[in-house]
Amino acid sequence: MIKVAFYDAKAYDRPSFEKYGGERGVQFRFLETKLNEDTVALAEGCDAVCVFVNDTVDARVIDKLYGYGVKLVALRSAGYNNVDVRAAFGKVHVTHVPAYSPYAVAEHAMALLLTSVRRVHKAYNRTREFNFSLNGLTGFDFHGKTAGVIGTGKIGRIFIDICRGFGMKVIAYDPFPAKDSGIECVSLDELFARSDIISLHCPLTDDTRHLIGADAISRMKKGVVIVNTSRGGLIDAEALLEGIKARQIGAACLDVYEEEADIFFEDRSGHIMDDDLLSRLISMPNVIVTSHQAFLTEEALSNIAETTVSNILSCFENDGVCDNELCYRCGNIEQCKKERREKCF
Ligand code: NAI
Repeated sequence: MIKVAFYDAKAYDRPSFEKYGGERGVQFRFLETKLNEDTVALAEGCDAVCVFVNDTVDARVIDKLYGYGVKLVALRSAGYNNVDVRAAFGKVHVTHVPAYSPYAVAEHAMALLLTSVRRVHKAYNRTREFNFSLNGLTGFDFHGKTAGVIGTGKIGRIFIDICRGFGMKVIAYDPFPAKDSGIECVSLDELFARSDIISLHCPLTDDTRHLIGADAISRMKKGVVIVNTSRGGLIDAEALLEGIKARQIGAACLDVYEEEADIFFEDRSGHIMDDDLLSRLISMPNVIVTSHQAFLTEEALSNIAETTVSNILSCFENDGVCDNELCYRCGNIEQCKKERREKCF
């Protein structure tokens, strides 16, 4: 039996992980706490840890895991900006779930966009109070508008298809665009200048942190709607708030927030909110915030559990050659042992 410490466990995680783990000999120890330096000791005696987007897997945590004999960090997410992959090299394997339901995220991005532009969130609250007034609920047609998509990977391309279904013109920016995709790729500057709607679907890296900041916002069309279902750090939230106050930004739809780690995924309704910036954003009539829920569909949860369990088994049953391993050397295919089906280290 492979023992796995499962950090940041939520009620919705358990059924699918218990099902696939139970069927295939992987025993999960579900822990409500997040992984960090203070909680890493809970992994002692386990073969692997299973982590999510707000667990901290930095060099110090990795060294402790290595010391406990933990062999694998199995991410149950696609994004891995919270893991120091370079520090893990030679010590613990790191796997992720590259795709579980890109439809879930792309559809949520459109759900936020429609809700915001057609004021559904306002209308829902009004009619519950038998207020049937339409004042202040005017939206705009998507048909004929220009959507600017940043990142044309799995999720970005599905979002593009959805936008085209609404009759929107789509332009995109991606430094590594897919060949023959038929997508009109433009520079970031042109995308900012032409888009009525901008949706972010690129990873968070050193290059993309605060991609949307004061300067970028000043180059956008007045009234632009910004959608972020990717990672909070892509947007400088202070600049976003200023852009909203200046009426430069027409609306913002946020499923992620840079400082979400200690806030999102938890019921904070009985607490005083310490994060003034998030409070101010949430108080705006043209901002919609969801709590990193874009991935949360039955299909995605099932795929996440199935792939994570397969990743774990592959590492322990396949002489350390893990499925979906993240290796910082993979930038250099010539050097990459995994390409030759050998152990990474
Ligand atoms: P992907 O790896 O298929 O696509 C990412 C695309 O971004 C690639 O085409 C890549 O070339 C492009 N890219 C890289 N650097 C860029 C840059 N500087 N500017 C513009 N584009 C750049 O990833 P996928 O599956 O489409 O996911 C995208 C992001 O969505 C993930 O990185 C993750 O952060 C986020 N995500 C959010 C979820 C949620 O629940 N809110 C769930 C799953 C993913």
